[in-house]
Amino acid sequence: STKTLKLNDGSQIPIVGLGTWQATDERDAYNAVRAALDAGYRHIDTAAIYKNEVQVGEAIRDSGVPREEIFVTTKLWNAQHHEPEVALDESLQRLGLDYVDLYLMHWPVSLDKSYMKESPLELMKRPDGTRPVETDWTFINTWELMQKLPKNKVRSIGVSNFSVNNLKDLLKAPTTNVVPTINQVELHPLLPQYELVDYCQQNKIEVEAYSPLGSTSAPLLSEPIVIDVAKKNGVQPAHVVLSWIVQRNIIVLPKSVHAERVAANLKTFTLPEEDFDAIGKISQQRGERRINNPNFEPFKTFV
Ligand code: A2P
Repeated sequence: STKTLKLNDGSQIPIVGLGTWQATDERDAYNAVRAALDAGYRHIDTAAIYKNEVQVGEAIRDSGVPREEIFVTTKLWNAQHHEPEVALDESLQRLGLDYVDLYLMHWPVSLDKSYMKESPLELMKRPDGTRPVETDWTFINTWELMQKLPKNKVRSIGVSNFSVNNLKDLLKAPTTNVVPTINQVELHPLLPQYELVDYCQQNKIEVEAYSPLGSTSAPLLSEPIVIDVAKKNGVQPAHVVLSWIVQRNIIVLPKSVHAERVAANLKTFTLPEEDFDAIGKISQQRGERRINNPNFEPFKTFV
């Protein structure tokens, strides 16, 4: 689908975007972005911590697609919550772009600047085993700074990995005068996030789904209910899952480094009501589960 959604600040965002997390091999990220833009995507999602902003930016420039036609997102890493403008400048430098369309606070948790800026989440421990979480700096402080980012460098701002409680705390804070446009979270039929999506949509915060196919192992593509619905409708399992998310007015960010899958993932269709409902019940039958970062303690602490 090349459909767009309107954000609460008036910007338009394409409902399907290319996810680039774990496209860390230099050529993979570059090729995936080129394939996506060739296939008609106009929305690319990256992050400072994905370590592929240089390749993503190169691919955007080489594509020949005018910059203003592409919606580009990057994210503030946890170790730079005190200096979002410095971090944004560094990202723009790596991307080779003048502005991003969307800048997200990657996690509602500030990590000690001197620690582990480079490491994967699961390795983020001090030598004594504790997590380098800053308890005297909250995401409300970070948001206060993000609200002041210059408009010529970033069009829209939002958050990621925020729970309903995190959002409630943010919205009621006296320093908050900008409602996040977006909350990007893990979301797929095994983690449907019904309550969070209701809360966000009621508050004009659009939801973005990362790992929409269930991440690296893509468990949903071998789920019998998904396969049945795919056969019945003459489509691929990935189409069923991505279409189910889009049908909930949620932005999807499927990741693939294979050109033919990237192209295929842009296609969505309208699920008949009974199939839509069947996909919506998979989590009840199989058990709801977070596939990424299930043991990320700082996240649990702040939920
Ligand atoms: P690959 O990059 O090797 O294609 P997500 O993180 O978006 O949930 O995706 C989960 C995994 O599913 C990705 O690692 C990706 O691997 C794979 N994938 C993406 N699109 C498709 C597809 N259309 N069919 C099969 N596998 C896919």
